[in-house]
Amino acid sequence: MLYLDQIDKARLPKHIAVIMDGNGRWAKLHGKPRVFGHKNGVKAVREVSEAAAEIGIDFLTLYAFSTENWNRPASEVNALMILLINTVKSELKTLNDNSIRLNAIGDLKKLPSRTYDTLMQGIEDTKNNDRMTLTLALNYSARWEMTDAVRRIARDLKAGVLSENDITDDLISQYLSTVNMPDPELLIRTSGEKRISNYLLWQIAYAELYFTDVFWPDFRKEDFYQAIVEFQSRERRFGQISEQL
Ligand code: IPE
Ligand code: IPE
Ligand code: MG
Repeated sequence: MLYLDQIDKARLPKHIAVIMDGNGRWAKLHGKPRVFGHKNGVKAVREVSEAAAEIGIDFLTLYAFSTENWNRPASEVNALMILLINTVKSELKTLNDNSIRLNAIGDLKKLPSRTYDTLMQGIEDTKNNDRMTLTLALNYSARWEMTDAVRRIARDLKAGVLSENDITDDLISQYLSTVNMPDPELLIRTSGEKRISNYLLWQIAYAELYFTDVFWPDFRKEDFYQAIVEFQSRERRFGQISEQL
């Protein structure tokens, strides 16, 4: 039986976050340079975006480039920035065909200007789509995001826009780049690595974590649906006991 058919459509997560990992190892396995893996990862991005929109996920957030990824060889970083430009352009039709709105989080202004401009154009060209929001985390890290939020909260305190008692869990969420998004209920990481790598640390406080050995370029719709089936089999207790649920 297909994983798709095992999904309970009434209990879908609203927000799924993904750490797309394993492009480099996938390329090595095929005797190719790392960039070949990144290029082949684009197909998985398309498949997962379509799969998520088709079953009715509201928010899909993909980790595409971390603040730490700048430390990779310059040739790989440059290739990723160019790939991003080409991907946003080539995937516009798929986004519009599926009514997917493009969004981005991270320290975007520090991206190369051509990458930044193309990204902003993609966001503009899809802004009226309302089936799903696809967010790319680019030059993103959770510690950057939280530091930035603390700085802006401090600024608003000083300006008298906020007072100390206004600082609540909800207020902090509003200062994060995921403002207006529900927290992800499910976090998927491919490639067998079992770590968070500075991704959405605040938002995943109660997310279910799902790890698969599949390398990102091989990840397909059924792999995505399998993660949702596994998610639906888990009991989420939020600190309570089974009998209370
Ligand atoms: C994920 O694949 C893509 C990015 C981080 C940009 P990797 O490039 O990390 O691939 P591995 O983990 O080295 O195999
Ligand atoms: C995390 O993957 C970042 C992205 C998927 C964009 P990495 O491959 O960079 O993470 P580490 O270095 O293995 O933790
Ligand atoms: Mg990696």
